[in-house]
Amino acid sequence: GVMVGRRIRSRRRWWNVVTTVEEFKETTETSVERLRQVVDAMVVEMHAGLASEGGSKLKMLLTFVEKLPDGSENGIYYALHVGGTNFRILRIQLGGQRSILAHDVDRKPIPQILMTSTSEEFFDFIALSLKEFIERKGDNLQLSHDRGKDLGFTFSFPVKQTSVSSGTLIKWTKGFAIEDMVEKDVVECLQKALSRRGLDMNVAALVNDSVGTLAVGHFLDNDTVAAVVIGTGTNACYIERADAVIKCQGLLTTSGGMVINMEWGNFWSSHLPRTSYDIDLDAESQNPNDQGFEKMISGMYLGDIVRRVIHRLSLESDVFGPLSSKLSTRFVLSTPLMAAIHEDDSSDLSQVAKILEETLDIHDVPLKVRKIMVKVCDVVTRRAARLVAAGIVGILKKISRDGTGGISSGRNKGYKSGKMRRTVVAVEGGLYTSYTIFREYLNEAVAEILGEEIAPYVILKTMEDGSGIGAAMLAAANSARNVDTVQ
Ligand code: GLC
Repeated sequence: GVMVGRRIRSRRRWWNVVTTVEEFKETTETSVERLRQVVDAMVVEMHAGLASEGGSKLKMLLTFVEKLPDGSENGIYYALHVGGTNFRILRIQLGGQRSILAHDVDRKPIPQILMTSTSEEFFDFIALSLKEFIERKGDNLQLSHDRGKDLGFTFSFPVKQTSVSSGTLIKWTKGFAIEDMVEKDVVECLQKALSRRGLDMNVAALVNDSVGTLAVGHFLDNDTVAAVVIGTGTNACYIERADAVIKCQGLLTTSGGMVINMEWGNFWSSHLPRTSYDIDLDAESQNPNDQGFEKMISGMYLGDIVRRVIHRLSLESDVFGPLSSKLSTRFVLSTPLMAAIHEDDSSDLSQVAKILEETLDIHDVPLKVRKIMVKVCDVVTRRAARLVAAGIVGILKKISRDGTGGISSGRNKGYKSGKMRRTVVAVEGGLYTSYTIFREYLNEAVAEILGEEIAPYVILKTMEDGSGIGAAMLAAANSARNVDTVQ
């Protein structure tokens, strides 16, 4: 009797696991119909954000980038990139005709302690790292007047720009919290730290990472109209017509276009498939009620959503063994580990078992439980990738490059003599470059939403280190040279 009773109980508990995962899957449903609603919501919010300051959760920030690199740039430029898990320093040498003659990058993790320190400590670290890098690379800034003095600065947070090379921090995202920086001029802070270190350099461009990615995309391919970052955080930017930027009519010097930094991580819509895990994650975060889209999509959060689901499952059932205290620790399961679980192709899922043991302190689980782990990762990643796809199509729709004007209408701006124009979106960030299943789901969903007639015209191109290189290129474009205006 006892044995049978236990078996029935454990079967029931296994059933709990199956039902909870099924329910989770259903709540995260992203049918193409729902994705189209997200596309339309994105377009509506883009209009609202462009119409007035504070008109939408989408900030639609001006970048003052009215010229994108076109490949003709020449010379040596440095760039700094702050804003994710790693801090990067770059030196590039451009040779005209779309050529990058040399390209050096140094990456180092940002010490956790600096992420919540003071602006002075933070920028001192950056300036010192740059100085060491330059000394190693051998450029003598004292001797030469024009070699390598222009610096591009990629600062991947929401900034209210006052020109292409100045702007103030609006708020922190992605776990950074250097409070005295908020509302301060970012370039001034950097410039001061540089002179404290005796570095005579000029910050010629202050750019968001999405804008850097767009710049390098455009440098390599003139058909690039938008860029998306899917790394620690997520964001997008695109080229907007000046007359569509209602909130600053008269301010723009150009009749052409300007790059708009959407800050889409803060996008919100009731059409987003939100679960109780998302609500808890948000409530316990450093920025509750902020960055709702980002918290469903980017690298900082995906692993933690999975961790929350597994925690729930092991409360409901004993198939994971005794409840591990690791499961209540935020961020123990990083997104790279999640990807490793998801992409384990061994027949016994030995990689999954290893990560469960080493990271979550969960031992000896049967194959069916390992499969549940993979399933949960799949659900979380699929939703994230498909939401990004909807965001991308939203941008394309806003600028009439989604083909909804009808492929032969000819009236739509996206068409030339009745044809949809080739449209390139530059993409950067670890989720796209290093997480194959994520990338496949994303590409698949873009094609699904656009339909088979239009999809072939839209090309997503990977830009590794794009944001940093792009900042250096924008420093080049804004230092003295003349580049074509944005079309
Ligand atoms: C966050 C930042 C945004 C950045 C993105 C990707 O969303 O607010 O500025 O572009 O992360 O790094």
